[in-house]
Amino acid sequence: MAFFKRKKPSPPPETLDPSRLPRHIGIIMDGNGRWAQKRGLPRTAGHAAGAETFRTIAYHCRDLGIPYLTVYAFSTENWKRPMEEVSAIMGLLRKYLLEALEKMERDGFRIVFFGDLTPVPPELRELCLETQAAGAAVEGVRHQINVCFNYGGRDELLRAARAWAADCQAGRCLPEALDEETFSRYLDSRGLPDPDLVIRPSGELRLSNFLTWQSAYAELYFTDVLWPDFSPAVLDQALLDYQHRARRFGGI
Ligand code: FPP
Repeated sequence: MAFFKRKKPSPPPETLDPSRLPRHIGIIMDGNGRWAQKRGLPRTAGHAAGAETFRTIAYHCRDLGIPYLTVYAFSTENWKRPMEEVSAIMGLLRKYLLEALEKMERDGFRIVFFGDLTPVPPELRELCLETQAAGAAVEGVRHQINVCFNYGGRDELLRAARAWAADCQAGRCLPEALDEETFSRYLDSRGLPDPDLVIRPSGELRLSNFLTWQSAYAELYFTDVLWPDFSPAVLDQALLDYQHRARRFGGI
């Protein structure tokens, strides 16, 4: 007779199915300010920590073989923040772009910008365009990072609508011929697959003007983890969750 019950062995941890990974992930990098406040640090320290997380997660996506990652770095509404915070975010972007210019060929990724860069200070705007052009020239890249900067989903739709209307006025297209495929060619995301998975950390349950058109059929994943604490393990958890979803795209 056994004096104690033998513990049932716990099931092995679930592993990711590499054949069912999303092709495109969107991330709203939220919670930097709260992360800093919890530590008695200035909000800018939260953005600096968030930028490090961005780097870690971008490399993790590349290592998993996920071709596209889109991150929300600065929205069309973020100009309302104190000038000091806006400048700190611009400074971080500058730092990471200079690093990317040096490493992207070796590390196998390219950077593309979504958003209207017109109001971005000229020197940083030039650096954004230079980094984008350098990435476009690199051959055989398998991981693309789209950085949404001065981006808003509604603003993107308006810019696309204006460009399409101008093409109609110039006789290059006909209003009655407009369909989803044609319109999507006017978006910042032209030529890319829609995001399969959109992740928002920090406990907020909204999309905040992120990839408004493209997220129509995205699976959404929310977590309370603040962005600077977001780790490859948290991303893997989101991916496991994603692999259990039944995607029907309006079918049955
Ligand atoms: C949202 O958190 C975060 C931002 C508005 C800025 C994100 C910027 C970075 C991670 C750094 C720069 C980007 C790159 C790509 C190098 P929040 O400040 O709204 O956080 P809160 O809701 O806790 O206040």
